[in-house]
Amino acid sequence: MQKVATISIGEKTVEMPVISGTLGQDVIDIRKLPAELNVFSFDPGYGETASCNSKITFINGEKGILLHRGYPIGQLAEHASFEEVIYLLLHGELPTEKEYKSFKHTLITHTLLHEQIRNFFNGFRRDAHPMAILCGTVGALSAFYPDASDITVPAHRELAAIRLIAKIPTITAWAYKYTQGEAFIYPRNDLNYAENFLSMMFGLRSEEYRINPILSRAINRILILHADHEQNASTSTVRLAGSTGANPFACVAAGIAALWGPAHGGANEAVLKMLTHIGKKENIPSFLAQVKDKNSGVKLMGFGHRVYKNFDPRAKIMQKTCHEVLAELGIKDDPLLDLAMELENVALSDEYFVQRKLYPNVDFYSGIILKAMGIPTSMFTPLFALARTTGWVSQWKEMIEEPGQRISRPRQLYTGYAERQFVPIEKR
Ligand code: SDX
Repeated sequence: MQKVATISIGEKTVEMPVISGTLGQDVIDIRKLPAELNVFSFDPGYGETASCNSKITFINGEKGILLHRGYPIGQLAEHASFEEVIYLLLHGELPTEKEYKSFKHTLITHTLLHEQIRNFFNGFRRDAHPMAILCGTVGALSAFYPDASDITVPAHRELAAIRLIAKIPTITAWAYKYTQGEAFIYPRNDLNYAENFLSMMFGLRSEEYRINPILSRAINRILILHADHEQNASTSTVRLAGSTGANPFACVAAGIAALWGPAHGGANEAVLKMLTHIGKKENIPSFLAQVKDKNSGVKLMGFGHRVYKNFDPRAKIMQKTCHEVLAELGIKDDPLLDLAMELENVALSDEYFVQRKLYPNVDFYSGIILKAMGIPTSMFTPLFALARTTGWVSQWKEMIEEPGQRISRPRQLYTGYAERQFVPIEKR
């Protein structure tokens, strides 16, 4: 029996289908609302609107659940390589050993950049934010691959997806090297995805880079935790850009731009700045008083989420990883971690945050781990973008392959002037 929702305006009543997914809330299909009732729905920021159907990621915000193609994030973070998660998000299943071997080979043979792209970096000032370099360079990639630019061809889509996912670590690491004035380090075919990123970030031409398994395992897990997250702001940006038929390189560049904001992917960098600003535990009460004062404009960065009204499951795994990495690196007491944990304890027992269901999100602890690993603050969001490129590309591919896919075009509630006549300047 088809479930329906009825809406009545005045004498008119319309029934609209209520559709169930595999998991999560049902949705009301409102597409006939304008024709039947001559009204639109109104949902600024689309916080209560399903913009698409998707099989990639599911979040239950009340219960703090995150699944990728049905697999709980905790199991993937604990047991999977990032390459397995890339395959899972792109193709819908975990790879068999044979598929895994072939996929890793495909990825590793697409990590190099066209040598002309090296010149792109020289156009930036050395103190450019790496996100600016990422945005510009990824957007320009389409100019280098005319051989696979027809997104209606499945093979072209697959190749573009592989190129973006395989090359983003090289671009990200080179953006860092450029700002340091150090020579670029090329990807190596004998390293895995996480190891290669570390080697390109920290390796030097003058010596063999020795992989620290603690760091590569931590990077592998951090990449998995940031890979995809339903229709967040940057993924929605990628989908909207892709709905016009724009090439996937341009779409991912748009996603990078959206992720950069401090309310989104820029939060990890903002958390570190916030902790440094607070300085010591004694300052927590006065800082939180500022946060509660709406006029201050001060937010508790790394806290709160549009969907999670419980713990972000990624934050719990990130906190656990934080302790592991610091212990394995022999860092006994990291003042920033101590301060972060005290801030979390105080906030979680403060009515202001409890009442608003504000819990730590994925960004609260990630910056502390990355800093302990020697990754500079300016590279926190680029690392988030590196990981999320897999989610963006997977969601872009799913959108393009959706039967009946159309250009996205939201409507509006107009609150401006009604029609009025032009007044010549001498009469104004
Ligand atoms: C990411 O969407 C995703 O999935 C994103 C992400 C992903 O993987 O893609 O998970 C990654 O972006 C995580 C979020 C990182 N951002 C931050 O940590 C920045 C700090 N957080 C806030 O800016 C905020 O919580 C947002 C942007 C994350 C969510 O904003 P919402 O949806 O507007 O927050 P809300 O509706 O839950 O707010 C409810 C109340 C409001 O106050 P009242 O009007 O009820 O009095 O809580 C307040 C908000 O002002 N509030 C905060 C707060 N977050 C919300 N107050 C202080 N500090 C905060 N961090």
